[in-house]
Amino acid sequence: MSQVPQNIRAIVSQALEKRAAEGTPVPQESGPRIPGKALVPVLNTLLTSEFVAIHQYTGHYAILKNFGYEKLAKYVLEHLNDERRHTDMLAYRIAFLGGTPEISAALDASLGMTVPQMFANDLAKEEGAVTAYNDSVVEAVNAKDTVTREMLESICKDEDHHIDEITTYQGQIEQMGLGQFLVTQL
Ligand SMILES: [Fe+2]
Ligand SMILES: [Fe+2]
Repeated sequence: MSQVPQNIRAIVSQALEKRAAEGTPVPQESGPRIPGKALVPVLNTLLTSEFVAIHQYTGHYAILKNFGYEKLAKYVLEHLNDERRHTDMLAYRIAFLGGTPEISAALDASLGMTVPQMFANDLAKEEGAVTAYNDSVVEAVNAKDTVTREMLESICKDEDHHIDEITTYQGQIEQMGLGQFLVTQL
């Protein structure tokens, strides 16, 4: 029975050394050199986090609609659409960099069953997102991938805007009381 070679890598490298010794040009790795290839795991972590945000906002949208707080539901839908756009951007970039978008990770969304609890849970999620995007921008700079960096910065700006909106609502609740605030959201 013939033996399958145990170490293909060693055989290939011996062949390449022989070619180099003979003066035959050694073939280089084919395909474009993409600087951000190493960023794929980071981008996949961000992608999973965006899916969690989508789940959370989907739940909050449904609950708010059911409560009849149409204006609040509309604002949540805007955030939801932003997060959907973010998953598209990240997944496309991952694919472009030669990776596979991770779509089967476990998602641990935190649903709030009251409006203040929803705001608290969403704020925690958004604050975590801003931290994660800021950290990933540093990674993109280190990888010298300007295009990915700019994409991450633009998403980070959206998350920062989400925080601004949530904290504005929380401030209104504090000033006018929850009951009065909810009347304005019908
Ligand atoms: Fe997002
Ligand atoms: Fe967000």
